Amino acid sequence: MNIKNLILGLLNNLVKRKNPDDLISQSQKAGLKKSLTALDLIILGIGAIVGSGIFAVVGIAAAGSVASPGAGPALIVSMVIAAFACVFSALCYSEFAAMIPVAGGAYTYTFATLGEFGAWMVGWVLMLEYAIGFIAVACAWSNHFMQLIKGFSAFLPDWICNPPVWLVNDAKSATKILSDSGVDVLSAMPHIGTIPFAINLPAIIIILITTVILVRGTKDSTKMAGIMVAVKLAVIGLFVLVGMFYVRPANWVPFAPNGVEGIFAGAFLIFFAYIGFDALATTAEETKNPQKDLPIGIIGSLLMTTVIYVAVALVLTGIYPTSGNVSAEFLKAPMAFVMSMVGQDWAAGLISIGSLAGLTSVLLVLELASTRILYAMSRDNFISTRFQKLHPKFKTPHVLTWTVAVICIIGTLTLDLNVAAELCNFGTFTSFIIVCVAVLILRKTDPKRYRPFKVPFSPWFPAAGILCCLFLMFMKLREQSDSAMLFPLWLIVGVVIYGAYGYKKNREIEAKELQTVSVEMKNTDEKIKV
Ligand code: ALA
Repeated sequence: MNIKNLILGLLNNLVKRKNPDDLISQSQKAGLKKSLTALDLIILGIGAIVGSGIFAVVGIAAAGSVASPGAGPALIVSMVIAAFACVFSALCYSEFAAMIPVAGGAYTYTFATLGEFGAWMVGWVLMLEYAIGFIAVACAWSNHFMQLIKGFSAFLPDWICNPPVWLVNDAKSATKILSDSGVDVLSAMPHIGTIPFAINLPAIIIILITTVILVRGTKDSTKMAGIMVAVKLAVIGLFVLVGMFYVRPANWVPFAPNGVEGIFAGAFLIFFAYIGFDALATTAEETKNPQKDLPIGIIGSLLMTTVIYVAVALVLTGIYPTSGNVSAEFLKAPMAFVMSMVGQDWAAGLISIGSLAGLTSVLLVLELASTRILYAMSRDNFISTRFQKLHPKFKTPHVLTWTVAVICIIGTLTLDLNVAAELCNFGTFTSFIIVCVAVLILRKTDPKRYRPFKVPFSPWFPAAGILCCLFLMFMKLREQSDSAMLFPLWLIVGVVIYGAYGYKKNREIEAKELQTVSVEMKNTDEKIKV
């Protein structure tokens, strides 16, 4: 075989696509009931979206970090920019979801448009969104849990309320807290050589709890998520209603302490708070009238969360000045912290409890999503088929769910909330870009396909989605922060794993199938001759 044929063969394999009609007929067999209305979708959307973004990341986005400038009170502008980036991509998700209403979201859409390699890469970056996002939310959960425990310091023993820093934080945060307070890090933390390490125990415990819930079955977890949505909205309402009486407009000046840079850095980070709406698009199959209800549901939930977020940001930055040095506690659990600061400890306590409930519901969504995508990837031979093993009693992919849990537990030891949230954003932006591109491609390659919902003003809206996401990613990559270094590394590792396993495995399977077909043909020929 000459080089040209070899390259053509390789390219051909990389773009091997799944037929959308096959995918649809597979899903029709599932025969899901079409019962969801636009209002149901808005409620579902808020459930999947509102979590550590508004309960924790909002503090870092406003005040900034060592690597990145904060938006200050202008965070409300950052929130609107991030919401815009989401709306365009959300419409593209809806077009796909209504046209190929099957499980798997972006991963499946890419398999139908860009082919094998594109699908693998999307699955791989979706792990940043779901699995690394899961780590970020678990870190936020740990911070809120400790905030709550401290609220009970009058009743609880000191060893519970004030455990060693390394036992309730990731290594980076623990090191920072200790060195900020002038303590020698190596004498206060366990270490290997000169490298200190930490064990984020509350984060590990909540990961174990959500994993047990998911292994026991999805039904319980969706029911529980519904209750948690109500609780989290109630505490956000409480924060805004109590907090607005303590707002001092002087704290809103300067409005944008770090100018445009700060606003865009804030938009990149607070984008994390909107992640989750893509889960809505996957309900297309169960939506009564996808053409009308999906865009209302998606845009409606984005609009509502934007209003909620802007209200929280206004109150938060109005109570606590974010342009100078801020307390480490503010960065961990900003809403509860400012409530304590103004003497409303009861509200701080309720907010901590409510945020724990809200964060738990997001944890369930993210862990469930990551295991579903990996399950689909295992079915497509990108990862070992051993992961498809179901629990004998609960019929859930327990091997996969526990594998994800163990990897994420290891992640909590090293990644902090900030880096994990940023990595999650990189992954999500990339998958949004690919979905927008895939919409444009399929409009050209398959213009006659029935589209129950079409992105309005195509190609302009998909193009706007691509540009918004690219721009925010580009601004972040320029900062050369930890996440900006780790993201390209993640992509490279993805390509290597595909080359070493997925590509080879799929070719092996194709070769076997070909062999079986040719043996069958030979047998048939011989029978005919006889
Ligand atoms: N949007 C989700 C959250 O804020 C990921 O926790």
